[in-house]
Amino acid sequence: MFPSYYEFGNPVKIISGHKVLENLPYELTLLGARRPLLITDQGIIKAGLIKTVLAAFAESDIIIGALYDRVPPDSSLQTANILAHLYQETGCDALIAIGGGSVLDTAKGANIVISEAADDLRELTGADVLTRPLRPFIAIPTTAGTGSEVTPVAVIADTEHNRKMIFTSVHLLPQVAILDSRMTQTLPPFITAATAVDALAHAMEAYTCLQKNPLSDAYAWTAIRLIGDHLIDILQHPQDKEGRLALANAACMAGIAFANSMVGMVHALGHATGAVCHIPHGVAINIFLPHVLDYNRQQVAGTIGELLLPLAGADIYAITPRAERPRATLTAVRRLQVQLHTRAQLPYTLQDAGVNRAHFPDIAKMALNDGSITMNPVEMDYEDALDILERAYI
Ligand SMILES: [Fe+2]
Repeated sequence: MFPSYYEFGNPVKIISGHKVLENLPYELTLLGARRPLLITDQGIIKAGLIKTVLAAFAESDIIIGALYDRVPPDSSLQTANILAHLYQETGCDALIAIGGGSVLDTAKGANIVISEAADDLRELTGADVLTRPLRPFIAIPTTAGTGSEVTPVAVIADTEHNRKMIFTSVHLLPQVAILDSRMTQTLPPFITAATAVDALAHAMEAYTCLQKNPLSDAYAWTAIRLIGDHLIDILQHPQDKEGRLALANAACMAGIAFANSMVGMVHALGHATGAVCHIPHGVAINIFLPHVLDYNRQQVAGTIGELLLPLAGADIYAITPRAERPRATLTAVRRLQVQLHTRAQLPYTLQDAGVNRAHFPDIAKMALNDGSITMNPVEMDYEDALDILERAYI
């Protein structure tokens, strides 16, 4: 059904290609900046990727104000504060984040502290608390999954109070996102698979949730097609730059899709399982995806059936009768899971992921309080959550 009302926006300039980091000096100049703070983590340093970024400045008159390379796996308030201090101390005028979701979110948090001159970031949590533009910010994702380069959200850990702070504002969006195939070419198979399935779930949930709209559908559809076409090939040929670029674009498009619609129960259960049992986000998402699609079939079977075309391709779609397409979509997701398990050791049961059944009540309760659940096409209660957890166990 066509929505009677919807909103859609993506103000991020996306630059995609095989050698597009070379655009960095020009883009900084357009933003009026000449002295960026580079923010990254040890993984990027060890993989040698920072050299590729620094080489992009070689012929320019841009001066790197500072390089911080110790962002931890879970973004934290402390790191955001350290970055803000470094930015001020070294006279920087822009932020460039090079990394996965944690690095990008930490940079967003640091940008709030810097731009709002905030003593305590905790006072600025929530939706639309920020009312004015922040400092110039460029994102260079090095995984193809979170879509954080195009989502107006930052999740930052408050380790003192053992909780996660969520910030939502259009001002958190970078001005520019650079998708350069060189930045994901060395990703190991497990991370490639886990992050790509996260992107697949972003797109599938965006396409099936209550807040879907024609524009988010278009982005979600293409993201699913790119993942369906390239994910398995990339695990066989990790250096294939065309495939890497396709997956980076898929993650970015899936991010735009869910930023303008929503995710759903896969993410509610995934967030809760990650918080209670400390398993990686992509692992949890991979486990829940087919079970939630199966559960949602009671309400949106036709929509799930449509996704067979981008995921499995035209030939399979054409020979599958309309009534069988919803189930065939599930079968295609399960086949993908088996391949990802074989080729990248990505677990697809909670048992294999090391989740203890004793945690199910805590996970179910937490999932019911997760914001992602609000736009799921079928309402979920405590018993439903427990039922899906049981199905996902073995
Ligand atoms: Fe996700």
